Amino acid sequence: MAHLFNRNVLLGVSGGIAAYKSAELVRQLQELGATVRVVMTRGAQEFITPLTLQALSGNPVHTELLDAEAELGMSHIELARWADLLLIAPATADLLARLAAGRADDLLTTVALATAAPLVLAPAMNQQMWRDQATIANVAALASRGYTFVGPASGEQACGDIGPGRMEQPAIIAAAAAGVFENGLLEGKRVVITAGPTREALDPVRYISNHSSGKMGYALAQAAVDAGARTTLVSGPVNLSAPDHARVLHVESATQMLEQCLQLLPECDIFIACAAVADYRPAAIEQQKIKKGPEHINLQLVRNPDIVAAVAASEHRPFTVGFAAETNDLLAHARDKMKRKGLDMIVANDVSNRSIGFNSDNNEATVLWADGEQVLAMTGKSAMARQIIQIIARQLGSPAG
Ligand code: CTP
Repeated sequence: MAHLFNRNVLLGVSGGIAAYKSAELVRQLQELGATVRVVMTRGAQEFITPLTLQALSGNPVHTELLDAEAELGMSHIELARWADLLLIAPATADLLARLAAGRADDLLTTVALATAAPLVLAPAMNQQMWRDQATIANVAALASRGYTFVGPASGEQACGDIGPGRMEQPAIIAAAAAGVFENGLLEGKRVVITAGPTREALDPVRYISNHSSGKMGYALAQAAVDAGARTTLVSGPVNLSAPDHARVLHVESATQMLEQCLQLLPECDIFIACAAVADYRPAAIEQQKIKKGPEHINLQLVRNPDIVAAVAASEHRPFTVGFAAETNDLLAHARDKMKRKGLDMIVANDVSNRSIGFNSDNNEATVLWADGEQVLAMTGKSAMARQIIQIIARQLGSPAG
């Protein structure tokens, strides 16, 4: 059964009588594990109050595009980045028309344009409006952009007509929303992902490490699981719970991480090195706690093994993907790193930009491979992870990629 654990679902409600069912939909999404925020159009507020949806979702409801105070709270761009999924239910004929035209004339349509998250639409309207050529053309245009439609169902309508146009049942819509994350792109593949920092011990109580949160690696593991891969995370110490259905092997030092990864190689088709591995470790680990002494002490450090390079150089190498954190000449350095380490693909991050990377929930990157590249605009780490998995699947020649 598909679920929405750790998913941020932005529920857009437009102005039709079916808007009253959105209250039930919020609950159904939450039951599948989602965190829900709601955006309402002006028309929707004629059918159901923001207060109802605020109480059910546990979050303030967003209604205005041009409201300085609301923008201070969570701007339309932040909302767009926050969303792992934009679900619009009900989606009226007018809303479909505005989406099809690419308009951004209220908060909901603006967020729809500004988000990289997948979009699911649950249309609801009078059966004749659903059958109108204009609506048919709009639906075809939206479907061709990869948006998912759920419903409409057929039956007796609020206006007394009988036919297609009723919004689908909330439970069915919630299940379809969860299904979006299960795409089968890497069905049957075995994926190993390194994540988080490493800790290089100095003595029994101290270590050298870095600020990596592990969020990107864990998001990649979730995306790999969703794509149907048998997924193993080799994780340094982080404060994150493991994605459902991923195996997590905990390690501390770079040496342990390397050993664990090499052991996994015989059962690995795709290797993604997302860990921020310490480049150096103390030459010796003191057996006793180092006592405070002279004004200055010197630490001698030695180079750690390069894990991703070792994997890429192995005899039965998997498809190998690395990350490159750079502060200048991003693409040139990343391409050089890809060649030097023998990688199939590299995800280049500009770490001079403080709003992305390490502890942030957002990321922005360029993915490079031997004869191509793709820019991934700033978005949440889960949305970015899904895009990276899609590119890997495409490079591997998956028919669905
Ligand atoms: N990496 C690794 N083992 C190491 C160091 C890095 O597997 N000992 C991997 C990282 O997981 C990442 C990639 O190599 O996928 C690049 O990491 P980065 O820190 O950008 O590069 P470095 O090799 O450390 O190069 P430099 O410090 O010169 O930028």
